[in-house]
Amino acid sequence: MPMPASRTAQHATSSPSIEVPAAAPSGEAESELPHSITAPIAQIDAYVSQYLDSTGLPENLVAAVRYALLGPGKRMRPLLVWHSCRAAGGEGTSALPAAAALELVHAFSLVHDDLPGLDNDDLRRGRPTLHRHTSEAMAILAGDAMLTLAMRVLVDKVAGEGLAGALVRELTEATAAMIAGQVFDTLGGFPRDGARELDAEHRLELIHHNKTGALIRASCRMGALCGLGDPSPDLTNPVLVALSTYSDSIGLMFQIVDDLLDVTQTTAHLGKKSGKDQDAGKLTYPGVFGIERSRQEVQRLHDQAIAAIAPLPESADPLRRLCSYMAVRSK
Ligand code: IPE
Ligand code: IPE
Ligand code: MG
Ligand code: MG
Ligand code: MG
Repeated sequence: MPMPASRTAQHATSSPSIEVPAAAPSGEAESELPHSITAPIAQIDAYVSQYLDSTGLPENLVAAVRYALLGPGKRMRPLLVWHSCRAAGGEGTSALPAAAALELVHAFSLVHDDLPGLDNDDLRRGRPTLHRHTSEAMAILAGDAMLTLAMRVLVDKVAGEGLAGALVRELTEATAAMIAGQVFDTLGGFPRDGARELDAEHRLELIHHNKTGALIRASCRMGALCGLGDPSPDLTNPVLVALSTYSDSIGLMFQIVDDLLDVTQTTAHLGKKSGKDQDAGKLTYPGVFGIERSRQEVQRLHDQAIAAIAPLPESADPLRRLCSYMAVRSK
């Protein structure tokens, strides 16, 4: 279900042109993540890989899924799952099925996002997009398979029916929101504000909260639920509430940074085509607000996320670091 738009930036200028890049957001954030934070990626990838081997699906389909899923991406969502689980007091390994499920839905969304009917892209993660590597039919079906496997890994592997049910609920809601966001981004169909159409600022926020924010929110909430454990996930738990606020901020921030990178980085550096959003007529933060104001918004959302988890103990430090990284990342 689409999340409601709420105004986050004032005094919009509808300038379609892009300004000269300014300095990165201020602060002590670093643009590389330390090994202590990225170390779980190896375990998560191995888990996903083993799970793929056990599905009994046709070899060519598994090969296509493997290509899209295990390519050189940043693995931000599974890392958020893992570290949110740790922040809620759990062992990261108990979040492996949820981490796998999030990357499966994310990879599905990328494969379909790149299709000719959507963004029509040839390059992803520094390699040909799946439909260029295989065929359009296989890319559609591999996306379908990844979405299904995401739900199946939760049902198969999460110990405890209460927890499994809560995780599936979070992920299905977030996936529906992501798809709604992709519809707004690609086809329109925005809700109305009474008799009036939503203005560009509100349309933009609705797109970004849904197409990207929803899965990032689910990553943190599902990780926290794994950390809190079965049998009865307490939805009012303060860690879960804090991580929900944190993830709302970083989710929107993540897509604003993605929009900024599209206009400030090269295709070679990003491993996906840059400079394409304006040509495709996309509604983006730099397009609506300009680069400088978009960067200020990134800084504001970063600070808001850090404030939301300020009361959490040291086990939330990796989430603080991930937030800072996501604000200043260059790819
Ligand atoms: C790209 O996501 C698509 C968006 C939602 C902005 P990522 O930037 O996380 O892509 P990978 O997983 O690292 O390739
Ligand atoms: C994609 O947004 C969001 C998804 C749900 C996949 P973009 O279309 O901006 O992502 P990139 O730039 O192709 O990675
Ligand atoms: Mg897109
Ligand atoms: Mg795209
Ligand atoms: Mg983009």
